[in-house]
Amino acid sequence: MRCLRMERNLFFRYNIKMAKETLPVGRQVAVSGVQPSGDIHIGNYLGAIKQFVELQNKYKTFFFIVDLHALTENPDPKKLREQTINLAALYIACGLNPKKTTLFIQSHVPAHAELGWILNTITPLGELQRMTQFKDKSEKHGVLAGLLNYPTLMAADILLYQPDIVPVGEDQVQHVELTRTLARKFNSKYGETFKEPKVLLQKEVARVMGLDDPTKKMSKSAGLNNYIALTDAPDVIRKKIKTAVTDSGSEIIYNTEAKPGISNLLSIYSAFSGETISKLESKYKDKKYGEFKSDLAELLVQKLSPIQEKYKSLLKNKKSLMKILDAGAKAANKVAEKTMKEVREKIGLI
Ligand code: TRP
Repeated sequence: MRCLRMERNLFFRYNIKMAKETLPVGRQVAVSGVQPSGDIHIGNYLGAIKQFVELQNKYKTFFFIVDLHALTENPDPKKLREQTINLAALYIACGLNPKKTTLFIQSHVPAHAELGWILNTITPLGELQRMTQFKDKSEKHGVLAGLLNYPTLMAADILLYQPDIVPVGEDQVQHVELTRTLARKFNSKYGETFKEPKVLLQKEVARVMGLDDPTKKMSKSAGLNNYIALTDAPDVIRKKIKTAVTDSGSEIIYNTEAKPGISNLLSIYSAFSGETISKLESKYKDKKYGEFKSDLAELLVQKLSPIQEKYKSLLKNKKSLMKILDAGAKAANKVAEKTMKEVREKIGLI
């Protein structure tokens, strides 16, 4: 309950562009995927998960865990399995409701890989080579063909469900643009088949920055003291907030230039409590950093604990969790197959 109330408060803080204007309730479709790679932190939560939870009330939603995409980083198999199932549990714990949302694992719907292949056959190599994420990641992981073809698989993920909107973070906008281009290309070559979806940009009011380096975005690859994972135990949360970088001076005021550390903590506080930053500034006017930090830690413990309890109880019963995901895959397969039937026919597969 507490979790839900918090979600509602936070929703109003997002800039949900485009969605509002065009909303015949419950009819439009939203599609998005998340990669099962490591800890989910409060920045991901405020930026993405909460938006999914809100969208499920207004759209027909398909959310999936992109295990095939995760393979482009060659993860340890045991770890991949674990992270896939953990992520599903976490999404449900945060409020995704399998009765409202079609929640599934990407590899459980074979049409994703099939359509991904078909789209590769109409995608110019240059389009893939110029993708920013490909350029960045290929430096780290070496140039694997899977990394190059990551966006065509993502385009397949999207186009199968004929969505109106695709909620993604800024770094994925380029991939959705490519998806639109491919949809247009396919449609003009083979006849109207795919809908061209719009991007719904996930935008937090304030970006959540790293606790140990408040000049850069919070990131799970930046080291344990950089972020608070949704699954961090209370004592870990307390310790991380206590050791979070603060700034010189002793005033608790919001000024990202002069006080990036305190400003970041203030915006986290505000996002989780629903209080405005200026209200918090006056509340902590004559108080010390230590007191402010300890209040923030308790707030996070209090807000995250219902999520953590639900998460743990879901993971205790993996069988029923798998049942949920199986039902999701079944429903997704139905929709995806309908699209694939048309695609196969149009391109000449017998
Ligand atoms: N590439 C996306 C990311 O890294 C994840 C993703 C895969 C996705 N398939 C998708 C997002 C389809 C939206 C729609 O965040």
